[in-house]
Amino acid sequence: MQKSAQAPDALLAAAEPLIQLALEEDIGPGDATSLATLAPDTLLDGQIVAKACGVIAGLPVAEAVFAQVDPETAFSARVDEGQAVVVGEVVAEVRGRGQSLLAAERTALNFLQRLSGIATQTRKMVASVATTDATILDTRKTLPGYRVLDKYAVRMGGGVNHRMSLHDMLLIKDNHIDGAGGLTRAVARARERYPVLPIEVEVRDLEELRAALAFDPPLDRILLDNMSLSQMRQAVEMAAGRVPLEASGNVTLERAAEIAATGVDYISVGSLTHSVSALDLSMKIGTQTETAPSNLSARIREIKSELGDSLVILGHHYQRDEVIALADYRGDSLQLSREAAQTDAETIVFCGVHFMAETAAILGKPEQRVMIPDPTAGCYLADTATLEAVEAAWQVLDTALGDADAQITPITYVNSSAELKAFCGRHGGTVCTSGNAERVIRWALAQRPRVFFFPDQHLGRNTTRGLGIAPEAMLLWHPRHPPEAQTIRDSQVILWPGVCNVHQRFRPQQIQTIREQRPGIRVIVHPECRAEVVELADESGSTARIIQQIERSEPGTQWAVGTESRLVYRLQREHPEQVIVPLADVPPFCATMSQITLSNLAEVLEALVRGDVQNEVTVEEDTARWARVALERMLAL
Ligand code: 13P
Ligand code: SF4
Repeated sequence: MQKSAQAPDALLAAAEPLIQLALEEDIGPGDATSLATLAPDTLLDGQIVAKACGVIAGLPVAEAVFAQVDPETAFSARVDEGQAVVVGEVVAEVRGRGQSLLAAERTALNFLQRLSGIATQTRKMVASVATTDATILDTRKTLPGYRVLDKYAVRMGGGVNHRMSLHDMLLIKDNHIDGAGGLTRAVARARERYPVLPIEVEVRDLEELRAALAFDPPLDRILLDNMSLSQMRQAVEMAAGRVPLEASGNVTLERAAEIAATGVDYISVGSLTHSVSALDLSMKIGTQTETAPSNLSARIREIKSELGDSLVILGHHYQRDEVIALADYRGDSLQLSREAAQTDAETIVFCGVHFMAETAAILGKPEQRVMIPDPTAGCYLADTATLEAVEAAWQVLDTALGDADAQITPITYVNSSAELKAFCGRHGGTVCTSGNAERVIRWALAQRPRVFFFPDQHLGRNTTRGLGIAPEAMLLWHPRHPPEAQTIRDSQVILWPGVCNVHQRFRPQQIQTIREQRPGIRVIVHPECRAEVVELADESGSTARIIQQIERSEPGTQWAVGTESRLVYRLQREHPEQVIVPLADVPPFCATMSQITLSNLAEVLEALVRGDVQNEVTVEEDTARWARVALERMLAL
């Protein structure tokens, strides 16, 4: 698998002088060690390998470094920009004169490690606020000269750029206010001199905020500088959505979620670019050994034919291409749960995330066993709802409604733990997937007057909206601030606040932009996207439905696809007769789906051949029994 490491010209234009400078300071008149030890005609292969998990950014810059040192060096990126990688994963391959590879290595890695470090930290920050509407912004605290590069890396991590420099937006701070002789005068002068530039004003307390909110027309944004959480909450109430608010100052990964929960619209984080911790990457020379991907695939095929029908490998659509190529069945979560229930194979190896393997273990026959190549491959969305938190909510619902079991049908999206599926089984509820959510919710509402849907608020909202339920009849649950009993009684749909941090990244603006760029394009998104996105899109559906719609469309149809990027890129390759583009300019990858690799798949299979069952996924008996009740209700619908 080779990927072209294309990037916007702006990135390379900005990187060019930095590359010159860096090579000059590092190599100068020559890399003495390589010149002395290697013959000029020695050709070498190198692999850039991840030594830590993270998000890759800067491959085009690394490629440009090698090209600058020796234009005959061949560089092939093995992953896409913005893609999550795991330890040991090959990020890029280089081939060429040994002297050139070794001379360019350090500089190329310095760029790649810095930018990937920024992207990695940004991705963590973005994930930590994903259950809210807050957007993570960078600042101007970038390494001098690296503004374009550092901010590019923030975008690759899923963050959004604040102003690029002093000339594209006005940010009026206390020094400007004092110098101008007051806020009113400062804003008036700013508006007069730069009528088209956005204006943001920094405030330090609620008094200053009140003054900043009084402008008509309103300011474009107000920056809350170093405020406490309670001040921020009050600020959000005072602004009441009239002016977007940005929180700034001392934002750590630990604090970001609390700040986002106050309701601010933006959080700017200086540390993303001023306190960079480089992603650990290294270049290995001549590592094309037995572990080369082609050898691993060949070995896995050998084991598959050795084990015959006793082994079945299931692969979710978001898996890596090289893994999908080895799966006996590929599908969305509904297709795979059906497959798991029907197969007679002794061993199911599930290439997907943990809840999917658990579902297979629940539905499988007693003598079957289910293995997962990496047992730590979880799901961000599933983790937003624990049994404890859902049970606590059920208690509140029970008190408000008299008897929750008679009044509410609980439905858990299949992206949840076995314990939550069992909870639904015990309380007369069921499970749904993105492929059958509508049918399941219709059934649920025929059983009892209300539905409690977890963990994905968007799938719940999108599906119930599609059934004609008004937004006023929906209640978004806040585990820490449960609603009043009357509010519960007035609602028909209660939504858990969980989100998927991949699909949460799609925004209505991306649809508008792509429609402007490519008139006539059809937009198709996954129902885990926000309601505003699903509403604007032409179609929405599970991964299987997205594939089906594209397969069925006339050749030459243009599609912008809003789902996990591996599937989008695979569709691009498998349907050259259509024009398929990712909806987001920075396409999101599911980091945990990426944890399944050829090497951990090969490892569990090698162990299996030796009779050693590794990473078996089991579910405690009582939990499995009730979860099966819930799942079988779903499969019978
Ligand atoms: P599907 O049900 O469409 O396969 O989606 C599963 C998933 O994990 C989506 O993020
Ligand atoms: Fe979970 Fe989202 Fe990844 Fe699907 S894409 S496995 S919902 S985190």
